[in-house]
Amino acid sequence: MGRLDGKVCVVTGAGGGIGRACSLRFAEEGGRLACTDVLEEPGRETVALIEAAGGEAAFFAADVTDEASVAALYGAVESRFGAVHVLVNNAGVLLPGDGSVLETELEAWRRVLDINLTGVFLCCKHGIPKLLAAGGGSVVNMGSISGLVGSATSQIGYAASKGAVIALTRDIAVELARRGVRANALCPGPVETPLALQLYTDEAAWERRRVHIPAGRLGKPAEIAEAALFLASDESSWVTGTSLVVDGGIAVAYTTPE
Ligand SMILES: NC(=O)c1ccc[n+]([C@@H]2O[C@H](COP(=O)([O-])OP(=O)(O)OC[C@H]3O[C@@H](n4cnc5c(N)ncnc54)[C@H](O)[C@@H]3O)[C@@H](O)[C@H]2O)c1
Repeated sequence: MGRLDGKVCVVTGAGGGIGRACSLRFAEEGGRLACTDVLEEPGRETVALIEAAGGEAAFFAADVTDEASVAALYGAVESRFGAVHVLVNNAGVLLPGDGSVLETELEAWRRVLDINLTGVFLCCKHGIPKLLAAGGGSVVNMGSISGLVGSATSQIGYAASKGAVIALTRDIAVELARRGVRANALCPGPVETPLALQLYTDEAAWERRRVHIPAGRLGKPAEIAEAALFLASDESSWVTGTSLVVDGGIAVAYTTPE
């Protein structure tokens, strides 16, 4: 028995590090994967990897900032798979122009909020009706520890977007708990993906980060996928509205071992 047997799972940003890891892990547990991304090639690669491992998946191109595209996505997934049970609203960006509140251009702020926050809102708005139609389901929204704790090397739009995703998730959880829909935010610390690695351009930059991670290393996409799997599956049936922190101890550290 797989932990997601027969469940139709829509993963946004499925061509990227965490989205791909979630897609692969969910398929191993019997999930039927609707992999979606604004970029076709990496999204299709994820599907090919799932199929090569004997799983079921299909690719759907969609831009999470575009309401018509998002509405069409869930319609297409429902037509292909017959129902939707799990949403992993994972697509997100960290943009170079997003930094200190003193310097960030309005355009960069807006772009980050558009993808990281409005994208999650639109996926909930159009995806959750499908969960309700299926009798209930689980929503996993991708937050970040940046939405919970401050950073001296701020990315102001990113932090604001993730804090808002956490708040939005709580409201969804409370509103829909009695209708069978659970919603939780997953809050990773820095994970080895292209998104995080762009910050550590040299050894010195990485060392500045590493000293603040009690575990002394970055997380791996597969470690985030395990937490997402718990939230997506019925094992978390009484867990809703929470923020699950998966960060090697960063957010609770006052000092680190070295
Ligand atoms: N990597 C980290 O350290 C880290 C830490 C905390 C939270 N997160 C969050 O995890 C999520 C995934 O991050 P990742 O590290 O795997 O990044 P990634 O860059 O590897 O993947 C992100 C994916 O989102 C897709 N995407 C971007 N804009 C999109 C749009 N408008 N519509 C649809 N898809 C779009 C990209 O094409 C890409 O495939 C993000 O929400 C990120 O904020 C990442």
